[in-house]
Amino acid sequence: MNRTTAGIKPVVVGISGASGSAIASRLIDALLAMNAPVIATASSAARMVWQQEMDHSFGEALEQWQSAGDFTYHPPGDLAAPIASGTFATHGMAIVPCSMSTVAAIAHGFSDNLIRRAADVCIKERRPLTLVPRETPLSAIHLENMASLARLGITILPPEPPFYLKPQSLDDVVDFVVNRALASLGLIDALPDSMRYEGPARPPTRPRG
Ligand SMILES: Cc1cc2nc3c(=O)[nH]c(=O)nc-3n(C[C@H](O)[C@H](O)[C@H](O)COP(=O)(O)O)c2cc1C
Repeated sequence: MNRTTAGIKPVVVGISGASGSAIASRLIDALLAMNAPVIATASSAARMVWQQEMDHSFGEALEQWQSAGDFTYHPPGDLAAPIASGTFATHGMAIVPCSMSTVAAIAHGFSDNLIRRAADVCIKERRPLTLVPRETPLSAIHLENMASLARLGITILPPEPPFYLKPQSLDDVVDFVVNRALASLGLIDALPDSMRYEGPARPPTRPRG
């Protein structure tokens, strides 16, 4: 069941330059469909990746989100945006997808753009923070940075397919990751039925007698 989003504080979405623009797009769509206010920022690398992976421009996406609900966008260099301060209340933040560069910066408190600063704010204010890191293979540097963040309570949610649910398409995988991200931020209480593992399929039981 979805939590009520009436009165919910803004959810910050950072889009960095890893592969997986579709996940960011679908997450923002889902948040706006839940009537959650969304404050987004995207790095210049994110826009480059978006151009290669999506069939509509990032500018068109911004227009669609602005007409779909309570949506605010800040450029990544806008370090004076409200989400750069802990005094501005937010529900928390997702960075989707999260590049290894952004993982490294956050793990070391390096807040040189708005995505990294907003994440730093979530950590210091102890607000929910979920990263959807995407890289393969992962080096020891990547793993160590993610481990330090996981130890701080940050959710590290790689965009991995739920093979056990037999996804039929990339869309199914994207939807699954988006729902896991919403759940990790406490914005939904449970995953949709179709995304829950219910144990192995059992043969029908024969009536006794
Ligand atoms: C098409 C494309 C795909 C990329 N995919 C990834 C990726 O999956 N993971 C990653 O860590 N970096 C990836 N990169 C490299 C990052 O974009 C680069 O490290 C950039 O500096 C990240 O900056 P940001 O963290 O500020 O967004 C990709 C770059 C391009 C152009």
